[in-house]
Amino acid sequence: MITTTDLTKVYRTRDREITALDGVNLHVREGEVFGVVGQSGAGKSSLIRCVNLLERPTSGTVTVDGQDLTALAGRGRRAGAELRQARSRIGMVFQHFNLLSSRTVQGNVELPLEILGLSGKERSRKALELLDLVGLADKAKVHPGQLSGGQKQRVGIARALAGDPKVLLSDEATSALDPETTRSVLQLLRDLNRQLGLTVLLITHEMDVVKAVCDSAALMRDGGVVESGTVSELLATPGSELARELFPVGGEVADDSRTVVDVTFHGETATEPVISQLSRTYNVDISILGAAMDTVGGKQVGRMRIELPGRYDDNVVPIGFLREQGLTVDVVGRSEDRGSRPAELVKEVAK
Ligand SMILES: Nc1ncnc2c1ncn2[C@@H]1O[C@H](COP(=O)(O)OP(=O)(O)OP(=O)(O)O)[C@@H](O)[C@H]1O
Ligand SMILES: [Mg+2]
Repeated sequence: MITTTDLTKVYRTRDREITALDGVNLHVREGEVFGVVGQSGAGKSSLIRCVNLLERPTSGTVTVDGQDLTALAGRGRRAGAELRQARSRIGMVFQHFNLLSSRTVQGNVELPLEILGLSGKERSRKALELLDLVGLADKAKVHPGQLSGGQKQRVGIARALAGDPKVLLSDEATSALDPETTRSVLQLLRDLNRQLGLTVLLITHEMDVVKAVCDSAALMRDGGVVESGTVSELLATPGSELARELFPVGGEVADDSRTVVDVTFHGETATEPVISQLSRTYNVDISILGAAMDTVGGKQVGRMRIELPGRYDDNVVPIGFLREQGLTVDVVGRSEDRGSRPAELVKEVAK
């Protein structure tokens, strides 16, 4: 549904150039909620602004719903009209809502409909329908100043849906909201995704948001995508940073006389009593150092940090057993900085 190919964005200021996007290849499937995470300055907003051509990419292509938007940008009047048309099918939700305080709630939702050239009657009908969809039918006549943050964002979402978009882009739509309101706005996005078959690309810096609503996620760093995939693919990837942040496990690594492994359960394996089987089969005592279990997309997933007696060499067979059960296993190596960085994981080449 959304594909970027070698997308770059270089900002040129008077005295320097800033490469905000450095060859981004991203693929968002139709009907999924896709989360982009990354530290401040990683290029997340630049990416989303390039996807709807609010910002003109320096090079590379952006395809949305089969249409190459970059090819349409700046190619004469007809292409310009096509680009406007295509962009009206991409909704955008902003962190600070960007509502006009002088207009009523309904007036705000009607704004894009005016631009699309709908008659007054049609605009009013459509706006009320959208406000109903976001649960604000009774607030049509009030001004944004009289609304709570969560309600304002619902108006922002209704407005973004005015052009019947197939794609909704959201840049930190919930980061100005409290946790409770965040949950309800996320639930709304998820419902719209399901009800309308809307593809959602959202940016967030909160892993909880990814956990709550995303089917897939990408991690950005220094203008590039360093990891991406469905949440279950990420959980099944040894050494995945996103997986570790989604499911952090505590637990100190003592010394190399013991072997510490992080085991990720996903899908069917989560309910199987694999650890006790391991213990019985190999007659080893297993200590659980830390664990995190959760439900993602209706499936139970989790990570567990366990300790086996003896060095790694003594535990090759039990570790192989865990892998055979379909679990993702990371062997945690010895390091000065214990327990959190991917570099310390003994990454083994998948067979
Ligand atoms: N209009 C601009 N002109 C110049 N530099 C810019 C512009 N917009 C962004 N940048 C720079 O590009 C880089 C990426 O910025 P971007 O806003 O995409 O990051 P981000 O991941 O959204 O960060 P945050 O989490 O803080 O919102 C940063 O170094 C930023 O300073
Ligand atoms: Mg940003």
